[in-house]
This record gives sequence, C-alpha cells and structure tokens, in this order.
Amino acid sequence: MCGIVGYIGQKKATDVCVAGLKRLEYRGYDSAGVAVAGDGKLDVLKVVGKLDRLIDALDESPLDSTCGIGHTRWATHGKPSKTNSHPHLSNDGLIAVVHNGIIENYARLRDELKAEGVEFLSETDTEVIAHLVRKYYEGDLAAAVQRASQDLEGAFALGVVAGDQPDLMVAARRFSPLVIGIGEGENFIASDMGAIRQFTDKVYVIDDDEMAVVKRDGITLSDMDGNPVEREAYVIPWPAEAAQKGGHKHFMHKEIHEQPRAMRECLLGRLSDPNASITLESLNMTADEIKGLRKIVFTACGTAYHAGLVGRFLMEKLARIPSECDLAAELRARNPVVLDNTLAIIVSQSGETADTLVALRELKEKGAKVISVVNVVDSSIARESDGVVYIQAGPEIGVASTKAYTLQILTIALIAAHFADVRGATPEEDLVALREAMLSLPELAQTLLDREDDVKAVAAKYFESPNALYLGRGVNLATAMEGALKLKEISYIHAEGYSAGEMKHGPIALVEPSLVTVAIAVKGDVYEKMIGNIQEIKARSGPVIGVAFDGDTEIPRQADDVIWVPECPELVSPITIAIPLQILAYHIADMKGCHIDQPRNLAKTVTVE
Ligand code: F6R
Repeated sequence: MCGIVGYIGQKKATDVCVAGLKRLEYRGYDSAGVAVAGDGKLDVLKVVGKLDRLIDALDESPLDSTCGIGHTRWATHGKPSKTNSHPHLSNDGLIAVVHNGIIENYARLRDELKAEGVEFLSETDTEVIAHLVRKYYEGDLAAAVQRASQDLEGAFALGVVAGDQPDLMVAARRFSPLVIGIGEGENFIASDMGAIRQFTDKVYVIDDDEMAVVKRDGITLSDMDGNPVEREAYVIPWPAEAAQKGGHKHFMHKEIHEQPRAMRECLLGRLSDPNASITLESLNMTADEIKGLRKIVFTACGTAYHAGLVGRFLMEKLARIPSECDLAAELRARNPVVLDNTLAIIVSQSGETADTLVALRELKEKGAKVISVVNVVDSSIARESDGVVYIQAGPEIGVASTKAYTLQILTIALIAAHFADVRGATPEEDLVALREAMLSLPELAQTLLDREDDVKAVAAKYFESPNALYLGRGVNLATAMEGALKLKEISYIHAEGYSAGEMKHGPIALVEPSLVTVAIAVKGDVYEKMIGNIQEIKARSGPVIGVAFDGDTEIPRQADDVIWVPECPELVSPITIAIPLQILAYHIADMKGCHIDQPRNLAKTVTVE
C-alpha cells in the first residue's frame, strides 16, 4: 500500500528516503513527500504523481538534513493531492508523520481535535495522528507517540519526526508492516525490507503494538507501555540486486522469467526423488493431525485466491479432504462454521494483506489450525500462523503477481501430495507420477519462456480487442480466472474468467467478432467438453485462442490461434498454462503502452480492508 522510509545518519536524508521509496513505488504512487528535521524546524516537500516528480522538486529545492522521513501514497481517504499527501504536519509545523494503514476512528478524533481548536487541512485519516502527537508532545517524542497510539483505532505503521529533535525518529506499529534497518552510525525505518536492502541486510521486524526510537548510534525497542523489548536482528536472505530489473524492461517481465529458478528453489530440500516422500518440516503438523483432518478452508485475495481455488481442487482430488476456498474479504461476513480438526490454509505473497490477515484471525479464533503459504519471510501472516510453508519466490515487485502465483500452486501441490501420502488417499504410482511432474516443472517453465515470441505474435493480433473471455473447466477454471485478471489489471482490457460450462447460462450472449476468447483446452478430464464449448463460440463468430498441449491436432482445427504448452499431468497444468497467459497479458499491455509495473489504481500490498 503506501510506502514509508525514514533515515537518520550522516548522509542526506532525502537521498536515502528517495532511493528507498523508489523500491516501494509499486506499493502506491499517487503522490509522494518528505519531511526533514533540523535547525529547530521541519522542512517539507510534497508532490502529486510519481516519485520522479519528487526527485525533480528536490533537485530544484534541496533539503540538507541528515534526519528525515518519506512516503509514497496510495489514496484511501481523500483524493490524490498535495494537501492529502504525506508527511502530515501539526498546525505549528513541529511534528511530521508518515503513515501506512487506516485509522478507523479518525472522524471522531478529528471532531474532538477541532473542538480543541486544531485546524485540519486535508481529507485524510492520517492528519489526526500529527495533531494528536503534537497535543501530547512536551519534549519527549517517544512518549507523545506512545500516548497518541492509545487513542488510535485501526492499522498503522508510523514514522514521526519533530522539528526540534534532529537526532531521533520514532516508529510505531499496529497491524501494518514495519522494520527498522540497522546500520553503522546510521539507521532506517521502512514499511518493507526491500526498501532498505540496498543499505543494510540487518533489520528488526517490529511487532504489533511495538515502537522504536531510532537514533544515529542506536535503536531502542519497546512496547506501547514503554516496556523494553529485546529482539534479535533478522538477516535479509536475498541480495540487494534481487530488487532490481536486471536488464528487463519491467519487473513483471523479469519475474515471469525467474519462474524456472524460483521453482527449483521451492522444491529444494522438499522434493528431490519421485519415489521418496515430500519433506515439509515448517508445516508443523504431525501425521496424526493430518490423518484426522475433517475439512480444509483456503482463504486469500486476488491472484492468491486463484491459487487457493487450485488448492481446493488438489486437496479434494489427492488427499480426499473436503475443501473450501473463500475470498478473504467475504469470509467474515458468512460467519464460517469451523468444525473440529479444520485446517485453514492462508495464501498470500506479501503476508500483509489486511483482508487475509483478518480472515486468518477469524478462523484461528474459531478454533482452526492455521498454516500459511507465504512469500515474504516473517510477514504478519507467517508469524500469526501455526505453521508456514514459504514459497521461496524471492522479492516480487511487479504489481501483477506472476512468479508468486505459480509458486503458490506448486507449494500447495506439495502440501496436497504430502497429505495424500500420509493419509494413503492416492495410489502410490499416481503419487510417484505427480512428484515426477512437479520435478519437471522448472524445465517445462523454461520451455514455455523460450516460446515467448510465439505468444507475443498472438498478442500482436489481439491487443486492440476491447473485451476478452477466458474459459476453463475443472482444475483450470482458476487458470482462466487468473488469465483474465492478469489481462485486465495491466492492459485495462475488460476480461472475464469463466467456467466454460457456465457459458451457455448467460455469457454466451456476449460472443461476437470483437470479443476474443481464450479457451484452455488441454487433454484431460474436461478436454472433450472444452472442444464443444469452442465450437459454440466459433458458431457465433467469436475469435478463439486455444491453449493446447503440444501435438494436439483437434484444437488447431477449431481455434483461430493456438498457444502451445508441453504435455504434463492435468493436475500440474495450472502451473504451466499460467506462464503463457502471463506472457500474453504482458505483451498486450506493453503493445498498448500501459504502465505495466504500476497499473492505475492498484497497489502491490493492500494493507487496508
Ligand atoms: C494481482 C495481485 C493481487 C494479489 C492480492 C493478494 O496480480 O497481485 O490480486 O494477489 O492483492 O495479495 P497477497 O498475495 O500479497 O496477499
């Protein structure tokens, strides 16, 4: 969502903040700003639009302090404008605050502060924090932030500086991610490790209701009551270059191409021999617990939800455990029934998505055992789960999730195959074939990437289509939904992912020459039915791009164009087929000149409900 960076040290604070924010721009990008402390006052610069505008403004009016905070915004309360952008200031300009999250009781707090004579300039929820901190500030910034936090309801990660205190910054967290970077003679605040990995590989991960006083020569952690907190530094396991484009035009393209390597890393230490059992120690579940499972509930948002849908299918098919998959934002509304021995599987790339975190807490409270399938190590979802299986994808920066999706499915497939093995629910020879298929995935993914130009040629033919329909069935219904999501979010082409079987119950009315249909028709349980559905579309003059296994002779006769995928067992085909669909969406968006890594209105990590 919004990105926060703070710096205190020997360097120019704005240089460090901007370099850090550059890495966070994918979180939100409708405005940006910095505030630096020095000479008894704060200097502030804010711009509407992308970070480059802030860089230009700082070139024109440099700010020299070595202590400051910065922010990129993704609007929640109030439209993108200079007044609504962060940092927000107290009326006397003494306190500046950057914030990620949502203050739920801001309207009441604003009315109370107004009644006390405070003047509000913006429409944001954040502004109340600056005024509250000022109200409680009597020379001890940490005490004022601590006191103000008691009045706040909702989620926040905060960076706070005071004009008369150029030697410290204060950071605080409740529900929104926050880390403190550890340097030598310098220290950092950030909402994401990726922002400061270029400066340090050591961080303190801050927990809910904790805060930090950050000085040049030291960091003091405490809870919100002021009790000291001891924490071991976490060493960021990936190199600084992992957060750079490495010669690719976009992060999305880089991340699509990282899939073979990421799949190898995901399999490493878990599956190496098709005849041997899968090892998933961090799952933290005994054989008896796995045998006793009565129900599995997957929950997630967006792309991760689609991975959960595939997961539901795999669990029922392989492990024979009744499974559901819920949109995290909807889960609480239906007050789900949690039976004894229910397992919740939470799927999230960032591990910080607010809706998903709320759903996790709901399921946990109702008695479910919770395991998560997460990318970002030590993220909130990972920490609140009873067990966690990391997908090992490395940093994903492109807003449209690509490698995390295929790795989420692969990780869930490992869990499902493990459960099937422990429960004896799938014949051993089928499990061996499945493990073989999983082991071959890195190679298959590379073959698909080598065919990028073929998919690009299909993109060139259809990139001006106003509408698209993605059809699939069975395990690949979710693939169709994910293909459509990729296309709509980065190219702004209206696209729907639909069950091919449901077509005739309504959507078929949309079929006409300007609606392109992508039909996933790989050999397997639903192949014949998919051919029937393609014929229904062709009969109504709709152009069809078929997705078929190599060597298929029927699909080229039925479809206008074919995207070829190497043959593999149907159960792992959602992983392989996702790759050309990512490439198709990528090239269509690129041909349309879209901002692929930062699509309009989107944020990489949605830390508000
Ligand atoms: C789409 C996309 C989003 C995320 C969703 C959940 O390409 O990236 O739909 O999948 O916001 O995010 P995580 O996985 O971080 O919980």
